[in-house]
Amino acid sequence: MSIVTKDSFLSLQDRVVQLSIPEVLKQLSEAFPGGLTFSTSFGMEDQVITDQISQSGVPVNIFTLDTGRLFPETYSTWSRTLERYSLPIDAYYPNAEKIQEFVRQYGPNSFYESVERRKECCHIRKVEPLKKALAGKSVWITGLRAEQSAGRSEMHILEWDDSHQLIKYNPLLHWTTDDVRNYINQHNVPYNSLHDKGFVSIGCAPCTRAVRPGEDFRAGRWWWEDQSKKECGLHVHQVTTN
Ligand code: ADX
Ligand code: SF4
Repeated sequence: MSIVTKDSFLSLQDRVVQLSIPEVLKQLSEAFPGGLTFSTSFGMEDQVITDQISQSGVPVNIFTLDTGRLFPETYSTWSRTLERYSLPIDAYYPNAEKIQEFVRQYGPNSFYESVERRKECCHIRKVEPLKKALAGKSVWITGLRAEQSAGRSEMHILEWDDSHQLIKYNPLLHWTTDDVRNYINQHNVPYNSLHDKGFVSIGCAPCTRAVRPGEDFRAGRWWWEDQSKKECGLHVHQVTTN
């Protein structure tokens, strides 16, 4: 059970814009000792945050949701991240019985058949493991950016996440793609080589493609579905600020 209250969150929210990422991490860690956790998919944004966490020295638990369907390049980025930073990364996996039953019933690639199947796959492979990863935590750090979608542009750097009953900290919310790339280059941060091949937002291999010039950030995710349905359920927009 989380110890965060909305009042404690609101007092921090006012101050967050004036502070650097390490300073915010330090303050959050003082307010919620042992309560900070960061979800990484090893995308560029997440690599910047891992670098900042490492520089800050603040104790932050780091985890990834290994869906079992990630790109080989993502696993390679994961390995290179472990080599570069002396930070452990916990992996969370889908429930074996549930995934076995789902694949037995519908086959390995049923996400292409309907939105319902796709959401079920995301639920088993991502949403349920996320719940486990966030259990007992007070602050969830993510690499979400406002530029990525209309829904994300309405988010706040520090938010109260009602669905998980914790604070969500999105430190790169107002960074541009160039800000992220420049940071990666300047600090020689390891990154997913797919980013150099037109992949912008990288999720599971069967559900992610490169984007063409002029296409939007999310065009390469679940490209066969309606624009309006393209979220996997990790980031539910019932976030409130007061
Ligand atoms: S998603 O909702 O479409 O899958 P996206 O790929 O944009 O999310 O990533 C946004 C943020 O969600 C990442 O910065 C990261 O914090 C978290 N995230 C997404 N996928 C994973 C994953 N497989 N493991 C851990 N965190 C993830
Ligand atoms: Fe399944 Fe595709 Fe969702 Fe990954 S992104 S969990 S493969 S439906």
